[in-house]
Order: sequence, then structure tokens, then C-alpha cells
Amino acid sequence: MPVHIDQERLVHELETLASFSDAPAPAVTRVVFSKADLESRAYLERLFREAGLAIRKDPVGNTFARWIGGAEPELAAVGTGSHTDAIPHAGRYDGTVGVLGGLEAIRGLQRAGFRPRRSIEVLAFTSEEPTRFGIGCLGSRLLSSSLAPETADRLKDGEGSTLEEIRKTAGFCGSLADVALPQGYYHAFVELHIEQGPLLERAKIPLGIVSAIAAPATLKISVEGAGGHAGGVLMPDRHDAFLAAAEIALAAEAAARATGALDSVATTGVCHVFPGAVNSIPSRTTLEIDVRDTDLARRDSIIKAIGDACTDTAESRQVQVRLEIINADAPAQSSPLVVEALRASCSEAQLEFISMVSRAYHDSLFMSRIVPQGMLFIPCRNGYSHRPDEYASPEDIARGVQVLASTLSRLAA
Ligand code: GLV
Ligand code: MN
Ligand code: MN
Repeated sequence: MPVHIDQERLVHELETLASFSDAPAPAVTRVVFSKADLESRAYLERLFREAGLAIRKDPVGNTFARWIGGAEPELAAVGTGSHTDAIPHAGRYDGTVGVLGGLEAIRGLQRAGFRPRRSIEVLAFTSEEPTRFGIGCLGSRLLSSSLAPETADRLKDGEGSTLEEIRKTAGFCGSLADVALPQGYYHAFVELHIEQGPLLERAKIPLGIVSAIAAPATLKISVEGAGGHAGGVLMPDRHDAFLAAAEIALAAEAAARATGALDSVATTGVCHVFPGAVNSIPSRTTLEIDVRDTDLARRDSIIKAIGDACTDTAESRQVQVRLEIINADAPAQSSPLVVEALRASCSEAQLEFISMVSRAYHDSLFMSRIVPQGMLFIPCRNGYSHRPDEYASPEDIARGVQVLASTLSRLAA
């Protein structure tokens, strides 16, 4: 069915959403439960209501907006959506294209007079980004029972406040035990997202159908050495915590390179040095390392190599090293049901696509544990993401939403 996508309106809504930010434009910073996040949620709710969708918010703030236009509303719904939180100094398209695009897909189907059999629902997940609580996909982990509610409520932010305190102050009360979705809640789930890599743009192909999502892991490494005067302590007497941490960071890089697979990646994205004075030897250093691969065993072999480097460095530099695995998730395979619907929708619209893996993680990683799931990627300029110059063209966004609408209509028919 031909669905008209209102490209101008969608781009305007993406722009407006980007204005709820704690960083000056074009950068976007929208950390979960910050004022900017809460304001952006209010804006989204207004748009959902204007489209006649029924809104439900769960105790962690996942927001469901359902089009109950279906002929058989008692059937499991078809879901779509993504996240609207943004890491510090990010861009405006990561996640938001899937939420506002999901809404526009529904509006397009409504305008076209489509009568789905099943309800169609947009889901805006809470805290896909790990910025505030150190763990990504908070909302979808809880929806899919992949994280114990009590553990989640005890998570602390950088100021020492717990998730429980923060979510309740933000107005999301109730027990996290009530977040998990019952089996069969969704018939299928499909997420539209920017690629966050350069492959589609390089191949000049407008769409990517995701076959699998890489397995992410987050490690926290604390090194305890000995501080002292930068002039007074002689080099042979030092136990510099930062230099030990630096060796471990380099070992992480080497371990990811050593697999020889392009899908193996390791990133040391956080390094805190204490006390952080130019004339003081670092006595404590903490690192946070992100390790990913499409192959679980290979990803775990990199974690093992980092663990070995921690042991070796502790020995050689006479420092204490503690390694904590914050999360080590399994990869997800897309469901043939959703992939087939995506392929059929691309073919019907005579749009070229490739099959590709997602090296970024998404809420779909966790949704795949409870529902047949698939993802659709659109290109982004130079593959840039998680930076202010992230950009997807209006035409590419509209094409993605067009195929999303068609896919939702197939899955809901
Ligand atoms: C999600 O933002 C990721 O880091 O892959
Ligand atoms: Mn992101
Ligand atoms: Mn994202």
C-alpha cells in the first residue's frame, strides 16, 4: 500500500526534539531523567496524543503509544521504536529517527486509510545509553527480564543517587518488577535506526536489513598504585596507577586487533586519574572498556586477554588491579519473520538493500529475547554518530520510514 511520508514535518519534529538538550546546538546532550530528557518526553507525549495514540508509561519510564485502530485489538500488537536519550555531545538522529519515524509511519498508515488487524505501538525506551547508570538498554533489559528489578533499582549515578530515587523523583513510581512484558505481548518488533557506520553510504545503498546485533560487554578496571611528589619520587620507586592502566588499555586494543576479525572492537572510553594534579603521581585510576563482537566466543576471548593483562600488569608494576564485568551480553539474531517483511517491503518499493550486522547495540538486542525482532538501517553521513555532526538526509529518513510503515502494515495485517 502506498504510504505518503510527511518528510518536512518529521524533520521539523527531529529538530524540535534536538532543542531539548544540555549542550548548545548542533550538539545534543540528553541524559536520562535530566530536565532536557523530561521535557523531550512531554513533547513526544503531545505528538503521540495528537496522533490519537493511547499512552502508557511503565515504572522505569518506557513509554508506549498504541494505535488501537486494529480490527482485532485483543491480538498481540506489532511494536516499533527506539530511544531518545543522547550521550554527552551527541547528534540528533541516534534513536530519535526510530521513535519519531515510528510515529510518522503510523500517521502515514492512518492517512492512507489502512486498517490493521493488530494494534501498532511505538515504544520509546528509557536509557538506551549507559551514560548515567553505567549500563545501556536499561528499559529494554527490564522489559525482557534480562536485568533483575532489585539490581536495577540499586544502580547509582555519578552523584551516588540510586535509580529508584531518581526515577521516583521524575514521576515514575511503582515497582520495577512490573516492567517485564508478558510473553506474547508483541507479535513482532522492528526498529528503524541510523547505521552509525559508513557501509551503506560507501556502497550507495539506501537501506540495510540487520541480520545480527554484536555482543557488547562493559568492563570496569580499578588500579590502585602509590601516589607521591612528581619531583621527589625516583622513577625506579614508582607504582604509577595511570601507567599501569595505560598498559591495560593498550592490551585491550591489541587483543581486539589480534583476532584478525573486523567485527572485534575494544574501546577504552573512560579514564579517571586520581588525584589529577600535574605534579602528583597518579595513585588511583579507573578505566571503562567497551568490548564487542558478533561472535560471542571471540568477544569473550578478548575479555579473557584483558583479564590476563590485568594480572600481568599488577605483577610487573606492583599495583592492585580489580576487574569488574558490568555486563557481557550475548549477540542477537534477527527473526526471519521480520527480515522477510522488511525484504518484501524494500522489494515492493523497488529499493535496494543489503543485509548487514549491527556493530552498535540497540534495545532490539534485548527485545529479541522476547519477541521476533528485526532492524532497518539508513545511511548517516561519513558513518558519524555519537558526535554533533551526525547527519541523516531527509530523503534517507523518509525512505526508511516508508519501508518501516510498509513492514508494520505487513506484520499487522
Ligand atoms: C549504543 O549507543 C552503542 O553504544 O552501541
Ligand atoms: Mn547511541
Ligand atoms: Mn541508538
